[in-house]
Amino acid sequence: MSKEDALARAKAVFNAASDYFDAPALSFWNRFGQQTIDHLALRPGDRVLDVCCGSGASAIPAAVRVGAAGQVLGIDIAESLLQLARDKAQQQGLENIKFQVGDFETLGFPDESFDAIVCVFGIFFVPDMQAAVRELWRMLRPGGKLAITSWGERVFEPANRVFWDAIAVERPDSSPISP
Ligand SMILES: C[S@@+](CC[C@H](N)C(=O)[O-])C[C@H]1O[C@@H](n2cnc3c(N)ncnc32)[C@H](O)[C@@H]1O
Repeated sequence: MSKEDALARAKAVFNAASDYFDAPALSFWNRFGQQTIDHLALRPGDRVLDVCCGSGASAIPAAVRVGAAGQVLGIDIAESLLQLARDKAQQQGLENIKFQVGDFETLGFPDESFDAIVCVFGIFFVPDMQAAVRELWRMLRPGGKLAITSWGERVFEPANRVFWDAIAVERPDSSPISP
């Protein structure tokens, strides 16, 4: 798949998913986002870039951790998810966080712009993951921290298998596994 096609597909899928993205059944976004931020041990005043930030599952905990002297910038290609994120940040009174539409591979910030960069469940949407990681690394200051969270094997099993088996019966073209 070309980069343009991958971007267009992710944008359409995640804009369409925004109506249920923060539903209770999907609370795992918040759990994994919070855990990613806990691993980073951010300090007050840190500048954080969160790419593929979705509705703010890791960006909002990051903003809490870096405090009023810090800054968090959340980037995503799905405007509908960013609006959810903005609403939540506003409800929590966070003034150190911004959310912008963008493709994280072409942000073009200067070298060493951030103390920490976060990408939770997003790196696999780009066809060239190595190039994407290289670009994130470039924007990180020396000694800064890059956190990339991805799915492990057997995640959500056995529910995952049951779910995809059901999808395969209804829509074999949409299932990544055969029944
Ligand atoms: C599985 S969601 C995860 C969202 C969030 N990090 C979380 O854990 O809740 C993946 C996100 O990556 C975004 N995305 C995919 N490709 C992107 C790209 N090239 N640039 C920016 N965002 C992208 C999607 O719009 C979607 O919001």
